[in-house]
Amino acid sequence: MKLMHVDASAKGDWSNSRTLSRFFIEQLREQGVDLTVDYLDLNIDTPPHVTEAFAAATYTHPDARTDEMKQTLAASDALCKRVMDADACLFAMPMYNWSMPSTFKTFIDSITRTELTYLNTPEGIVGQLTRQKVLFLTSRGADLRPGNPMAWMDALTPALKAAFAFIGVQDPQFVDAQPLLFSAAEARLEALERARMELAQVARQWAQPA
Ligand SMILES: Cc1cc2nc3c(=O)[nH]c(=O)nc-3n(C[C@H](O)[C@H](O)[C@H](O)COP(=O)(O)O)c2cc1C
Repeated sequence: MKLMHVDASAKGDWSNSRTLSRFFIEQLREQGVDLTVDYLDLNIDTPPHVTEAFAAATYTHPDARTDEMKQTLAASDALCKRVMDADACLFAMPMYNWSMPSTFKTFIDSITRTELTYLNTPEGIVGQLTRQKVLFLTSRGADLRPGNPMAWMDALTPALKAAFAFIGVQDPQFVDAQPLLFSAAEARLEALERARMELAQVARQWAQPA
């Protein structure tokens, strides 16, 4: 299995989402999955913000692009190829101010490309990432599980679902570690243990033959 592993926490080794994403990969290996990992640390290799040149180039038909436009899109082309080449994607990130880290947003802006990750056809949009298993691993300070008073403030889950549905990911899986900050110590430990159990379960599922 070729796995694209993306981390987006601004923190280093002590990050919850990075620790849990490493745990998930260990679980896959323990389940006997033959893994090739394509790793991207968005804290180091941060895709650029959308620029005017990018906006013009991306919506120009590939046959009509100038050399300059092609150059503008080159890094995004390469990132799209990495995602499309993967059999599975692990996207690990903390919640920042109710949504995703800005580095992960620039990643989405780079991989959402007409005639590459989605086709704009007369019948409508046809996302191309239909083959990939996708797991979103998120870490949150608050407890935003259904039934909790702050649950409505989770703008991360719907944003990820919408952005990836557009490029063809219809059934992503989510493991959300919460509450990891705004809670008593026992609740944090429980949240981490719950996340590890859920990750082990997803690893077992991914290890099943297709
Ligand atoms: C800048 C910043 C913004 C944050 N915003 C939120 C938030 O909106 N909601 C929340 O529940 N936690 C928030 N947190 C807490 C983190 O999501 C939480 O501590 C998480 O475990 C961090 O993951 P990491 O250790 O992988 O970086 C925020 C943390 C930081 C540093």
